Amino acid sequence: MANETIIRGRLLAFLREPRGVDDKASYLYEEDGALLVRAGKITARGDYVSVSRKAGEGAAVIDHRPHLLLPGFIDAHVHYPQMQVIASYGAELLEWLNEYTFPEEARFRDAQHGRRISRLFLDELIRHGTTTAAVYCSVHKSSAEAFFAEAHERDMLMIAGKVMMDRNAPDGVTDTPQSGYDDTKALIEEWHGKGRQNYAITPRFAITSSPEQMEMAEALVREFPDCHMQTHLSENHDEIAFTQELYPWSKDYTEIYDHYGLLGKKSLFGHCIHLSEREADALSESGSVAVFCPTSNLFLGSGLFDYQRYRKRDKPLRIASATDVGGGTNYSMLRTMDEGYKVVALNGEKLNPLASFWQITRGNAEALSIGDRVGSLEIGGDADIVVLNSSATPAMRLRMERTGTLTEELFLLQTLGDDRAAVEVYVAGRAAKSALGEE
Ligand code: GUN
Ligand code: ZN
Repeated sequence: MANETIIRGRLLAFLREPRGVDDKASYLYEEDGALLVRAGKITARGDYVSVSRKAGEGAAVIDHRPHLLLPGFIDAHVHYPQMQVIASYGAELLEWLNEYTFPEEARFRDAQHGRRISRLFLDELIRHGTTTAAVYCSVHKSSAEAFFAEAHERDMLMIAGKVMMDRNAPDGVTDTPQSGYDDTKALIEEWHGKGRQNYAITPRFAITSSPEQMEMAEALVREFPDCHMQTHLSENHDEIAFTQELYPWSKDYTEIYDHYGLLGKKSLFGHCIHLSEREADALSESGSVAVFCPTSNLFLGSGLFDYQRYRKRDKPLRIASATDVGGGTNYSMLRTMDEGYKVVALNGEKLNPLASFWQITRGNAEALSIGDRVGSLEIGGDADIVVLNSSATPAMRLRMERTGTLTEELFLLQTLGDDRAAVEVYVAGRAAKSALGEE
């Protein structure tokens, strides 16, 4: 087997955040482009002729023309134990958690179940073109062990953690401040930095963590500053009111996390829909990331994340985007940004298609502080690649007849595309989607 591969196609990678639909300087595009891949890394990129000159004798060529080559998509917030929660009818957040989500997550006390769902979950990410995600496991240590083991086996870059939750939830899904601390620490020691695995300290949210547990989360963040921290913030009005009752001394929801030292550049806050200006300032000043989860926010009726307000304010927020399966309803980052576009439209703004594709690749990589490794197809980076077919369905093919520009093509992909558009996915240089086999 050749130890070098040339992956040929229409190459698209973003250099920075696009400022408008005509911002050609924001991306690199090669009509007949290629990536040279060796030992899981990108060793050359550019037009096919120049890349093939750099390749050694016997390099294999995989020709994906006329399809697009982009960095593998990144999902910045998703719950793997909620695969069988998607499509749970009729509830808003707190009822949805109690009625559907906590009972489902309780099933992860069985390590075997965790292994099965980890496998199916990573299959699903690959099927949809997602190569990296920030993932919530269940409260059970074994659920995180199963997830990391499966991701490590596949060499997928993952950020994940077991949720810490010690109150306001049934016995089957609670830990204690001490066990949450001990299990998290043991998982960090075993998995953080092993291969491509990264740990996220994961207090679920202020409602399910007592002040004692929040202190433990604070201690972990201090002890392991290199780890991410992920939680939920300001998603739903009843959630905000209950949180305020539980922490009556706090000015607002954000101040609770701030009080326990949980704001920072590696801190990811899911939802952030109903933030005051003060809260947005606190997130911005600390470099914290607000994660936009459009399908979930719509499905649970939580509200409209004001993407453009957060980006354009004097103190802009760092933003990532995510599926939030199983509050979210689709694994596809294309479907996610299609819904995101509609949310932004309801706020009277437009989200340009170049910015959408920047967001789910380089933008999310930078928000997750992994932009030096993935998200931009840079030389020396990891060869995580999605191959997109803009004519994947009859409806897409027909619509493609009437598109002229790359921006129009991307908008079509976002509006009509799903897992069928991701015709191949490379994980650390290895073809992963075609290796999945039949469903
Ligand atoms: N807040 C606390 N836990 C969850 C969860 O699992 N999903 C969503 N959407 N919000 C949450
Ligand atoms: Zn969530």
